[in-house]
Amino acid sequence: MAFEEMWEALRPIGRGDGGGYRRFSWTAADRECRDWFAQEARSRGLALDQDRNGNLLAWWDVEPEPGPGAADMVAGAASIAAGGITGDPMAGRMRRDAVLTGSHLDSVPDGGAYDGPLGVVSALAAIDLLRERGVSPRRPLGVAVFAEEEGARFGVACLGSRLVTGAIDPARARGLRDADGVTWAAAMEAQGYDPELIGPDPDLLSINCYVELHVEQGRALNAPVGVASAIWPHGRWRFDFTGEGNHAGTTLLGDRRDPMLPFARTVLAARDAAEHNDAVATMGKVRITPNGVNAIPSSVQAWLDARAPSEAAVRATVARTLSAAEEAAGWDGVEVALTEESYTEVVEFHTALRDRLAKTLGDPPVLPTGAGHDAGILSAHVPTAMLFVRNPTGVSHAPSEYASPEDCHAGVVALADVLEELACR
Ligand code: GLV
Ligand code: MN
Ligand code: MN
Ligand code: MN
Repeated sequence: MAFEEMWEALRPIGRGDGGGYRRFSWTAADRECRDWFAQEARSRGLALDQDRNGNLLAWWDVEPEPGPGAADMVAGAASIAAGGITGDPMAGRMRRDAVLTGSHLDSVPDGGAYDGPLGVVSALAAIDLLRERGVSPRRPLGVAVFAEEEGARFGVACLGSRLVTGAIDPARARGLRDADGVTWAAAMEAQGYDPELIGPDPDLLSINCYVELHVEQGRALNAPVGVASAIWPHGRWRFDFTGEGNHAGTTLLGDRRDPMLPFARTVLAARDAAEHNDAVATMGKVRITPNGVNAIPSSVQAWLDARAPSEAAVRATVARTLSAAEEAAGWDGVEVALTEESYTEVVEFHTALRDRLAKTLGDPPVLPTGAGHDAGILSAHVPTAMLFVRNPTGVSHAPSEYASPEDCHAGVVALADVLEELACR
């Protein structure tokens, strides 16, 4: 199957010495992934398009019935000519009644190979399989590559799908900054996009459904393929601890306003709060200023990721962590502020669509997840479902993330079955 060839072509892009991926939006690795996708779409005769928000789309359009005027029935025109971008604000608008699949190609820092790419590669391989089966779509079948799903560079996860659905204010998105202070607007402009055009596509509401295949990211699936029921509510919060920079050798302990101390206590408090609320909480990113071995830091920024089956548990986890942070900051004369950077409500996938997938696939396991996905953002607007492929070790967002070739193959077959059912009948 072309799956293996696609996988091999994608494998080296953005891969570090330790085997982890750094495919951050609008970087050279991201460009290479996009070029790879464009090439795969073109080689299949799919109409390649990109929307105003940095998302890519490849369309298998409905073939016109033979007869006079048939050529006019082919919907939409590919807007990417030899890698260039048209300034056409209509470019990349969704097709009416489309069945959309896909995922993302960006990664977390030192992420695995499967989170995102598995859904994109499987979508293309499923199209190959449908063609082998001799079936063709009766409604447009699209493969989407959503931009900045991980939020690894600009901080807000699922930024491409949030923009296209109107879940984030375009002005806020334009101003999001990476660690070097580069804005989303500047980064996309450097790639030929007009950042003033970003924002929702009303035609998204006219699509038939979205089905995303993704590697399962924990140890919850004990079959090759499963169907998602729900995504836990989750969010990202930033703590700003502000103290006083000073000399590590000459500043007496009692004279210090060291922001590292309340930060350290906050990490422990987040763990305690999560245990208390049957939630999960992670502090995986920290920025220390000035970050010198012989200097007491002047400030610490630290990010909290909190998730739980219920919103109440997420909120309680954050509140408990904050009150511990405030108390600890007070002990050391440090100021602390909390900012909610993003929050995603609980997602219950479309019941009828989910049941249809389960029936098509012979009743595989149905399971919720604590991982966020573009499907979660789209589900507030269009019927949405997800397929998961087994993760035998349960590791994700790390270089050792894995799914077996057999399970990947089962995922392609399942996705093809589902797309045949939804788009070709
Ligand atoms: C993205 O994969 C997330 O769940 O954070
Ligand atoms: Mn991820
Ligand atoms: Mn993902
Ligand atoms: Mn994700």
